[in-house]
Amino acid sequence: MSRSSTLQAADLSGPERSDAACPALPLQTMSFHSSFQAWADLRMRRIQALIDAHLPLPTATNPPLAEAMHYAAALGGKRIRPMLVWAAGECFDADPQAMDAAACAVELVHAYSLVHDDLPCMDNDVLRRGQPTTHVRFGEATALLAGDALQVRAFEVLTSNPQISACIQARLCALLAAAAGVRGMAGGQALDLAATGQVLDVGALSEMHRRKTGALLKASLLMGLACAEPGHLQAEERRRAEAVLDRYADAIGLAFQVVDDVLDASADSATLGKTAGKDAAQHKATFVTLLGLHAARDLARQLLGQALQALDTWSPARRQRAEPLAELARRIVTRSH
Ligand code: IPE
Ligand code: IPE
Ligand code: MG
Ligand code: MG
Ligand code: MG
Repeated sequence: MSRSSTLQAADLSGPERSDAACPALPLQTMSFHSSFQAWADLRMRRIQALIDAHLPLPTATNPPLAEAMHYAAALGGKRIRPMLVWAAGECFDADPQAMDAAACAVELVHAYSLVHDDLPCMDNDVLRRGQPTTHVRFGEATALLAGDALQVRAFEVLTSNPQISACIQARLCALLAAAAGVRGMAGGQALDLAATGQVLDVGALSEMHRRKTGALLKASLLMGLACAEPGHLQAEERRRAEAVLDRYADAIGLAFQVVDDVLDASADSATLGKTAGKDAAQHKATFVTLLGLHAARDLARQLLGQALQALDTWSPARRQRAEPLAELARRIVTRSH
């Protein structure tokens, strides 16, 4: 459905509409695919359909809030967090409907975090995903509300499908809330603001990155695992899986923000789809300012090695199923935007 036709529609989205709009994703792991790209393309289409289905449709009578939510969440983005949900969950035969909800919810929270990150009171950025930031397009107040509404919509998505067990729903909500809150993304963003103009040591900078960016990435992986029904995964196996995903997530979570900092300092705005050089201009504390570009790139490569090593502790059969996790780690470190 094109955007112009959705603009004429008069209804609001809900679980019924999303079920109809999103036929189940076939459980296809790498062994059924010739390449990672085919795996990723299928899931890119899936997350787009889920987001479109779960967001309210703008109508002639509702305020621009619905349009701002769609603008912020549905147009572009690498969708790394949903990919991590599916890549982790599929290693453990997770419930496909629960993975859909988790993938969509974590991306909505991520989209909200970007809208607020760009606000004048935060990074004051004008470009995001190759287009004007939400507050530039819709005004600050609407952008603020769009962020708020995207965040709570995520929790509606996690709790609106009665076919997902209550136990899994509760665990998904707990993981996402913890990762988005004061001990995770929001707390990390506060550290980022407080660190502006300061020189942090490696420990303090790593902690800031772990919270502002790593927490949501780790939650994506643990949410994928949490979508596995207790009957499919014994307690001891789940505990061991969590430990591996934890180590993998620590490495890629830090690597993700190190690479973000490197790209901010070395790529151009057209490639990034966001304003290059902002960190230096705003005196942000980053790994580039602390270590320099060369050492920051080295650190990202070392972290990739650590992430892959964590997966290597799995059996050959599980490692084969974890190939999308390995490839996502490689892409997080070698990406150009
Ligand atoms: C950007 O995240 C913000 C950070 C956490 C560094 P992404 O690089 O995942 O942004 P999109 O979703 O692809 O636009
Ligand atoms: C923001 O980090 C991380 C979030 C929690 C959104 P940045 O401020 O470096 O992200 P970009 O570079 O604007 O995407
Ligand atoms: Mg920021
Ligand atoms: Mg920013
Ligand atoms: Mg950045």
